[in-house]
Amino acid sequence: MSFVIKIEGVKYTWDPTKSTPDWPKPADEMRQVVIRLKKYNVEKIIDFGCGRARNAGLLATNFSRVYLVEVQKNMSLVKAWMQKYNYPQCTAFEWEVFKKAKIRADACLLSCVLHTLPNSNLRKQIISTIRSKLTNRGLVAFITPAHDSKYREKHLKDSKVEGDGVVRLFSDKTFSFYKNYEWEEFLEFINEVGLRMCEKIPGDHRYIALACPKAKEVVTG
Ligand SMILES: C[S@@+](CC[C@H](N)C(=O)[O-])C[C@H]1O[C@@H](n2cnc3c(N)ncnc32)[C@H](O)[C@@H]1O
Repeated sequence: MSFVIKIEGVKYTWDPTKSTPDWPKPADEMRQVVIRLKKYNVEKIIDFGCGRARNAGLLATNFSRVYLVEVQKNMSLVKAWMQKYNYPQCTAFEWEVFKKAKIRADACLLSCVLHTLPNSNLRKQIISTIRSKLTNRGLVAFITPAHDSKYREKHLKDSKVEGDGVVRLFSDKTFSFYKNYEWEEFLEFINEVGLRMCEKIPGDHRYIALACPKAKEVVTG
């Protein structure tokens, strides 16, 4: 998962953890997401790219199993959260371990993750790995910035356009990435990864979307 870009002759390596928010409270949209997921009888859920696990408490109090997934560098944050709150229904996986894990969940949450992945192949690979851990009717819940001025080039200090988004460069020669999805492009992505939109939940500056497998009809409760 190593991505290197070259800007003005200098090489920068992608550091996914540079985008992990410090904010400890659940994303504003999470209550809406939980209500919808419960409507689809979700019991086991993956919190992919959980960061410092700010959404995990809400998930643990609403679902019977919560699988937290992060990259190695952030595992200390996830473990610290697990030790502090000690929810027996939570299990943490480092990304490489998750890829081989034999689990089956009913849904996966990507809260502010998709738009930080620097390359369209990586986005597709990650969704494909996630789908291999879901049941046939498994849902993917996205919370992702859209039309968000905060993610426009001029508002990201030191940002530069790179690929289909912008990068922020750091003095340790790493970079973080942000993509401001337009709705049509987001729909196209969902379609390309074999999903279809089953619910779009209105949000001010973020899309909240539930996607389900194209071939199967999801029966709501
Ligand atoms: C913007 S943060 C969002 C964190 C959290 N979901 C939240 O809402 O606070 C994106 C997170 O995705 C994680 N991430 C990126 N690629 C990942 C991968 N392949 N496996 C696990 N986590 C990943 C990053 O380390 C980062 O913490």
